[in-house]
Amino acid sequence: MSKKVKKYDDDPNTTGHSWDGIEEFDNPMPRWWLWTFYATIIWGIGYTIAYPAWPGIQSATAGVLAWNSRADVVADIAAVDEANAPINARLIETDLTEIAADANLNSYAVSSGAAVFKTWCAQCHGAGAAGAKGYPNLLDDDWLWGGTMEDIHVTVSHGIRNEESDDARYSEMPAFGRDELLGKTEIAQVANYVMSLSGVPQDASQVEAGAAVYAENCSSCHMDDGTGDIYQGAPNLADAIWLYGGDYATVYETIYNSRYGVMPPWNTRLSEAQIRAVSAYVHQLGGGE
Ligand code: HEC
Ligand code: HEC
Repeated sequence: MSKKVKKYDDDPNTTGHSWDGIEEFDNPMPRWWLWTFYATIIWGIGYTIAYPAWPGIQSATAGVLAWNSRADVVADIAAVDEANAPINARLIETDLTEIAADANLNSYAVSSGAAVFKTWCAQCHGAGAAGAKGYPNLLDDDWLWGGTMEDIHVTVSHGIRNEESDDARYSEMPAFGRDELLGKTEIAQVANYVMSLSGVPQDASQVEAGAAVYAENCSSCHMDDGTGDIYQGAPNLADAIWLYGGDYATVYETIYNSRYGVMPPWNTRLSEAQIRAVSAYVHQLGGGE
């Protein structure tokens, strides 16, 4: 049952459509709406002319303003570099051992060094610098190559056992088993002796025989008491901190085949200011001397 809609005198015309007696007014769109609509069209056209917009086959139209986000980033980085230029210059001029004493400079070095570390070092040494098998922990005071600012700076600048830098830290532990310098029995004995150095109880007769093997073959690098030698990057074997692992199988494997940890040089990739900053960061992590 349809009810006839009451019509007023000022009602607009209808479109002529009628559904079950319901008719449709032919109302014009409000003026403000219409003008806003036209304005957005004009603005849209203007935008595609001014800014990169229409996709092509290789790239999009560049836009007459030639704006692009990559150039923005480049400009931002240049602005930061410029703002940091004076303090970077100071970082390079200051004696390595004096950086820590200059609170302002030191806090800049440590915080920018932390950023360098996250970008360049964390993949090997871990985000928290705790290291992994073969990659030394940089949080403790157990240093392969020395923990003073100067030592760290040299290590980071030139790297370790790499072929790129002639000044890289270098040493090589002989592969006692592979190169047949020692027999398997002797390697087993000296492995027992090495484990006993950090307090892991071992068979006394093995340890005694191993001590003799050690004195003859190992003490020149790892020292008589096993505390190691930073001039040869020979780890301390008496402190229960292991670069490669302290279980029997790993120690045996180390002595049999030796190890050859490699770190690339950073002075070809990073600026002197960045190297100093990351050295200061590593130095203050806990183990700096
Ligand atoms: C490709 C892996 C790798 C990267 C990346 C790397 N390192 Fe190393 N780093 C090593 C290895 C491996 C050693 C240990 C080498 C050895 O056995 O003597 C080492 C040793 C060190 C040492 C000596 C530690 C000690 O006990 O004397 C320092 C300091 C160091 N790295 C700092 C850094 C810093 C800072 C960065 C970033 C700029 C970095 N490393 C990036 C692999 C890496
Ligand atoms: C020419 C010097 C040299 C001699 C000799 C030498 N080593 Fe080493 N040793 C090293 C160096 C350097 C490393 C570290 C290698 C690396 O970082 O990749 C090392 C590492 C080790 C490690 C690994 C320590 C860890 O923390 O994981 C053990 C164990 C070890 N040596 C035992 C021995 C024993 C046992 C002998 C004697 C049979 C011996 N070494 C003789 C230089 C030497």
